[in-house]
Amino acid sequence: MLKGLVFIIGAYLLGSVPFAILICKPFGIDPRKAGSGNPGATNVARLLGKKWGFLTLVGDLGKALGPVALAKYLLRTDPYYYWWLSGVGLAAFLGHLYPIYLRFRGGKGVASATGVLLLLCPLAVGISLPLFIFSVALSGYVSVGSLLASLSAPLWVYLFCPRVPYMILASFMAVLIWIKHRENIKRLLRGEEKSWRKR
Ligand code: G3P
Repeated sequence: MLKGLVFIIGAYLLGSVPFAILICKPFGIDPRKAGSGNPGATNVARLLGKKWGFLTLVGDLGKALGPVALAKYLLRTDPYYYWWLSGVGLAAFLGHLYPIYLRFRGGKGVASATGVLLLLCPLAVGISLPLFIFSVALSGYVSVGSLLASLSAPLWVYLFCPRVPYMILASFMAVLIWIKHRENIKRLLRGEEKSWRKR
């Protein structure tokens, strides 16, 4: 029990690390005040280029994947193993969305959710990722890919990894990702969302 709680707190604190802000800092840019205003990989790519965006993606994905990987190994004998794993994944994801170091104003969670699901249900990522790439390529908007991939993820979890805690987690993450994308949704509806092809 105590071990699980330590994991959850640790995952939240690690998830709170704002890679987008740390990566932009040496360039004198604050991603919360430039571009879309989102401290995430897409906005870093928009502001600094694809290389730095990719680095942010790796950081945001890794900070969620790391604690889940460790919990998978160290909590494997716990009777509530799957619940703990989901709790640790959720804590890292919530850390990214509501980081303690940034007055709880963080990113949109797509990379972090991917990191969590990569370990809990790799097939869900295996299907969501091509869907993401396909919809971004077709629409020109990263947000469209994020919205569709996150919306579909709970279905893949339900079909391929049907564990109650995983299904609850995937659905909850999808709802929060959509809530965090509300400004993108408004811009898409107004035809004002910025295409990834343009800087
Ligand atoms: O994952 C975030 C992406 O869907 C949208 O990013 O910067 O265009 O709001 P952004």
